[in-house]
Amino acid sequence: MLNTDKIRADFNIFNPKEGSTPVYLDSACMSLKPNSVVEAMNEYYFNYPACAGRSSHKMGDKVTKKVKETRELVSKFVNANSENEIIFTRNTTEGINLLANTFDFKKGDVVLISDKEHNSNLVPWLVLRDRVGIEVKIINANEDGSFNLDNFSKMISGVKLVSIVHTSNLDGYTNPAKEIIEIAHKNNALVCMDVAQSIPHQKIDVKDLDVDFLSFSGHKMFGPTGTGVFYGKLKLLKELKPFLVGGDTVEFSTYDSYKMLEVPEKFEAGLQDYAGIIGLGEAVKYLSQFDFKEIKEHELNLNTYITEEIQKIPQIKIIGPKDPKYRSGIVNFYIEGTDMHKFAIMLNEMANISIRSGRHCVHSWFDNKKIYNSARVSLYLYNTKEEAEVFITNLKKILEIL
Ligand code: ALA
Repeated sequence: MLNTDKIRADFNIFNPKEGSTPVYLDSACMSLKPNSVVEAMNEYYFNYPACAGRSSHKMGDKVTKKVKETRELVSKFVNANSENEIIFTRNTTEGINLLANTFDFKKGDVVLISDKEHNSNLVPWLVLRDRVGIEVKIINANEDGSFNLDNFSKMISGVKLVSIVHTSNLDGYTNPAKEIIEIAHKNNALVCMDVAQSIPHQKIDVKDLDVDFLSFSGHKMFGPTGTGVFYGKLKLLKELKPFLVGGDTVEFSTYDSYKMLEVPEKFEAGLQDYAGIIGLGEAVKYLSQFDFKEIKEHELNLNTYITEEIQKIPQIKIIGPKDPKYRSGIVNFYIEGTDMHKFAIMLNEMANISIRSGRHCVHSWFDNKKIYNSARVSLYLYNTKEEAEVFITNLKKILEIL
């Protein structure tokens, strides 16, 4: 069982010098940062704020070593074959854009996505449709948000790339990654998974999944903002065309030619966010100390309590499967005809509770379902039963007032 008291001692934000402790229920947007992550970044800025891979001096060497360490840590964390399969990006979105802009797509190629994609895994493909003439096909989930493998098997023929969310930020449902990848590969399609919402909560093993590309963010898994990772099987990464190019992406250049560096440098143009990368390494270390089974159990306990309480309120509807065991740490709810922003604002004003409201960057789904917006609670390993109770108590108070 997770010891939340011990965990919360690792976060300054839970031990404020003044004011009340926030009830933070928005980790699907942004996880809180353990002190070790912030300290590692400060140490970089205070003591060795230099560049990696360029300057031959001790500070530069230290940064180069630290960046390499993070690449190795991330590589082990996802069980990649080589650290060269790990490309540092700013976030999940950038990784997907990298793929959309470097894969050799031709007019008429089909990219299959789901109907619950975040804008980051929808808009790059729509832009490519408009620019190159690819076809974007959408696979619809079942009514409860679960994945329809039969539909998928029917739609997969002729698809070049399946680009799909693993755990949805909308309803917390986790798509059956292994089955999807197996079916896709049998039909000669490659698979890119957006694991932004799953990698903080469950083991992602690229070898076990046999996934071709992965994209995720550091900021949802205790890491700094503006950090992310794009993973690809080395052979496939080598085939991708250059994307952002310039400093440290080339081995050599003349006034009319250039020789690209190998992967991953080829994709990491210009000075990088070294403090962020170093912080990401600390975040991976921090997360690695926990057992994912315990994280899941903890989140399920809290999700079950919140779900049961919300299900007693007739006007509130939960998005996604009824059973919280299929919704990771997410409870996304709405009241028909109501702007749910007011709930988020009032919860924050009344009890310093932070939740997210709106369309959660999945406008397409809301538009299709004709639902205006929703309010989303998202849980992580530092949340407590007391926090869940404070949320429910205040939610009920708001419903009495409105
Ligand atoms: N994808 C993030 C969220 O769902 C921003 O909140």
